[in-house]
Amino acid sequence: MTVPSQTRHPEPARDAAGDLVHLRRAGVSLLLDASNSGVPVVLHWGADLGALTGPELLDLATALRRPVRYGGPDGRPVGVLPEHTHAWFGMPGLSGHRSGRDWSPRFQRTELRMVDGSDGVPTGVAVTARDDAAALDLVVEVDIDPGGLVRLRADLANPAHADPYQLDGLALCLPVPPQAAELLDLTGRWSRERAPQRQPFTVGTRSRESRRGKPGLDATLLLIAGTADFGFRSGEVWGLHLGWSGNHRIHAERTPEGDALLGAGELLLPGEIVLAPGEHYRTPWVYASYGRGLDEMSARFHAHLRRSVPSRRRSRPVVVNTWEAVYFDHDLGRLTALADAAARIGAERFVLDDGWFRGRRDDHAGLGDWYVDPDVWPDGLHPLVAHVHGLGLEFGLWVEPEMISTDSDLARAHPDWMLGTAGRLPLEARWQQVLDLTHPDAFHHVLDRLDTLVREYGIAYLKWDHNRDLLDAGTQPSGRAGVHAQTLAAYRLLDTLRERHPRLQIESCSSGGGRVDLGILERTDRIWGSDCIDALERQSIQRWTQLLLPPEVIGAHVGAARAHTTGRTHSLTFRAGTAFFGSFGVEWDLTSTTPEEQRELAWWVTLYKRHRDLLHSGTVVRVDHPDPALWVHGVVAPDRTEAIVAIVATATSTTANPGPVRLPGLDPDRRYLVRALAPEAAEKVLPAPPPWVTGPGVRLSGRILGAAGLQAPTLRPEQLLLVHLDGR
Ligand code: DGJ
Repeated sequence: MTVPSQTRHPEPARDAAGDLVHLRRAGVSLLLDASNSGVPVVLHWGADLGALTGPELLDLATALRRPVRYGGPDGRPVGVLPEHTHAWFGMPGLSGHRSGRDWSPRFQRTELRMVDGSDGVPTGVAVTARDDAAALDLVVEVDIDPGGLVRLRADLANPAHADPYQLDGLALCLPVPPQAAELLDLTGRWSRERAPQRQPFTVGTRSRESRRGKPGLDATLLLIAGTADFGFRSGEVWGLHLGWSGNHRIHAERTPEGDALLGAGELLLPGEIVLAPGEHYRTPWVYASYGRGLDEMSARFHAHLRRSVPSRRRSRPVVVNTWEAVYFDHDLGRLTALADAAARIGAERFVLDDGWFRGRRDDHAGLGDWYVDPDVWPDGLHPLVAHVHGLGLEFGLWVEPEMISTDSDLARAHPDWMLGTAGRLPLEARWQQVLDLTHPDAFHHVLDRLDTLVREYGIAYLKWDHNRDLLDAGTQPSGRAGVHAQTLAAYRLLDTLRERHPRLQIESCSSGGGRVDLGILERTDRIWGSDCIDALERQSIQRWTQLLLPPEVIGAHVGAARAHTTGRTHSLTFRAGTAFFGSFGVEWDLTSTTPEEQRELAWWVTLYKRHRDLLHSGTVVRVDHPDPALWVHGVVAPDRTEAIVAIVATATSTTANPGPVRLPGLDPDRRYLVRALAPEAAEKVLPAPPPWVTGPGVRLSGRILGAAGLQAPTLRPEQLLLVHLDGR
């Protein structure tokens, strides 16, 4: 693995010769031709080409020059903003017009500017282009971060002298080489997010879209093209992500002419963006990660996230969340008893979920009335919060600020504060509508309520939910499509609250993992992976969510033995050993557990705390084991001195013995002491443990562990074993 998490690349991150710019870091090269004939063209995005001299760059550009097309117009190579005018017959990068005019722009570069990265190393370029005839100005920024993650965004301006310009879409694209033969994306639904789907990358377009006003439970997170049979540790992959929390379109396209592209942009609703004279539109960042195998591609995203927000450097506190413990049954006695049990098992944060505010006895009413319900809480939340703080725990609170119940005082007082179109309200979902945050009074009302609650109760953490899809989401009174403006307003709300409360941490929840993207993660600290905490489902959900996010950002809770969402029953070892790799928490009525269960859970909490620095800073490894029932994943310390690996039986194996498990990503020249991490837990799940599990362990080099491996334990289905590799 070549992705450094925090280090500066020792070599210059950029070479240039004339209009050729070569960005390179951490095993990745992006070669850009930014000549004045049009928008920049990517000549290579992929494996590092090494430091190149000016003549070498020019030779390389010559070597890669395309032949004249047979029998067709000879357009220039497709740029990062594909243009129809240059004989590009695929999806255009820019769609828009002025009452039917100016719909096929031909941009010419006017300026090429080098941009210095925040760590002082030159890392990017900004290219300015203009189409005088269509009266449009464009700036495209491209950069590469210290971990080799490439970003692009564009800014389109309508000059002051021009007529209004209706923008229908702006997608930025990157080419992938012909070797990219397969596509991988993710889908999902409530309680089953992030299910992988694979298919050949044939001629045509594969487009994954959201019109839900958020990425959605089915959001792909990444669209990935790869060489045939690529895996976590094999092949070459190119993945694209859009850092945006509203509607999106992310696509892969292969043309009969032989081009293959990945592209992404905001999905704009009809008439949503009309640029008045002098106005401009800036796209969200499109993130692009290349890797030799999915793990390396993911590692670039993980390193980016670990660098980008300071609060992420704090240890992740162990959470006890009340949702599956009590649901709406808010009772001071019951909740203080739960907090006592939380403190006994070693939790560090107590989160009061839905049900605390006015009228909220179930999910039919109350959203928007962000006042503590005096019927349930006659003294406010003070007695509970004081109790929680007295136990030494932080206090967290559930909110759903962008929503409004039709049965609420707020909706009765301000029926015009709900998104809608054509003078009617959208179909209800969970008995709620969407608060129009673009309405200044609505925005300030909700900001003021959140601000007051955080101050009054010393809230350390908000679980920020968003439970319904946006439907007919027009801003009032015009009814014009308003998802873009609503998304920006939600960002503003989060940003303002964080400015006022810099230590406040926020979780992005959306019926589980319905709002997971790098836009929301610029302003939140953790995501709720899924409402499903069945550990078997979670193995899959967390595995695929980790394509984009490092483990510590994914909320993962231990639930009751019998999972509420699936009815499956699992051992505590399987449940805790699964949550172990996320931002660990508990969502279980601890007051109804046995002393033995509480002791065992406390033991897991201690184990998690002992290892969380490693779990939350290391490199994620996922093994391509030939037995589809056996999943192996883990985390290797950045200096490769230590690792923790989980061997997981997700089902029964076809063969009696799945054979040795290879453990990749270790230092080949270091010897590790290999043992079960938790022999106490291991003995419970293993009918006949192999000798390395029960004995003092074995000492083996990373080379041997990667090439020969370790005999897999014979696990029953839905059991796991954690392995500790200590090379210190
Ligand atoms: C959906 C969330 O995903 C759950 O965890 C819980 O907070 C409920 N909303 C509360 O209504």
